[in-house]
Amino acid sequence: MVLHDAELTLLPWNDVNTLPGVRRDIIDTSNDPAMVRWTTVPHPYTGEHADEFLAGVPEGVERWAYVLDGRFAGSIELRPGGELGYSTAPWARGRGLTTRALRLVAAHALARGLQHLELHIAVDNAASRRAAERAGFTYEDLLPDPVRIRGHEDTLARYVLRAPDAAEPNSTCIAP
Ligand SMILES: CC(C)(COP(=O)(O)OP(=O)(O)OC[C@H]1O[C@@H](n2cnc3c(N)ncnc32)[C@H](O)[C@@H]1OP(=O)(O)O)[C@@H](O)C(=O)NCCC(=O)NCCS
Repeated sequence: MVLHDAELTLLPWNDVNTLPGVRRDIIDTSNDPAMVRWTTVPHPYTGEHADEFLAGVPEGVERWAYVLDGRFAGSIELRPGGELGYSTAPWARGRGLTTRALRLVAAHALARGLQHLELHIAVDNAASRRAAERAGFTYEDLLPDPVRIRGHEDTLARYVLRAPDAAEPNSTCIAP
């Protein structure tokens, strides 16, 4: 399903190959220093990696491409359990696209009945944490197990967005 607001279109991954230059844009985005530092994408990221990424999504995952001026500008995916992952092409950063994409996918997921969405963000990834907060996610806690990304050990902060009527964690339900 295409999702969009006034500035950004999210194209379902099935149609991603219709975007001109998308393979090159994905290779360039994935080799960008911020991607190498903050994500586990393979490095160096090759054409074969891009082909695999373009070929489809794992079972249970929904992924969209950001489309700006007809060009691939990033991607976001909704994973089983409600965790989201995303990246913006370097040329399109700082324009609020992640904030917009998070809002669009969160609205889509909550409308589908998900009660709880989560982001796991390295504590020092200031841009991602800021985008999460701008999109309405709330810092919840630190995950107990750090991750190792290319020699850096990163503690992950957990951000959460709940459906308006979702129960608070640890709330007690007392039957009448
Ligand atoms: C994190 C990332 C997705 C943000 O994408 P983006 O589309 O530029 O994000 P937005 O423009 O929606 O918002 C970024 C916010 O962070 C702020 N920001 C950007 N760089 C920052 C930095 N180094 N330190 C602090 N804040 C920063 C922006 O000013 C903006 O906040 P504002 O609206 O209050 O000004 C992008 O930098 C990226 O792709 N990074 C590499 C991959 C990655 O880290 N993915 C997320 C893994 S959890």
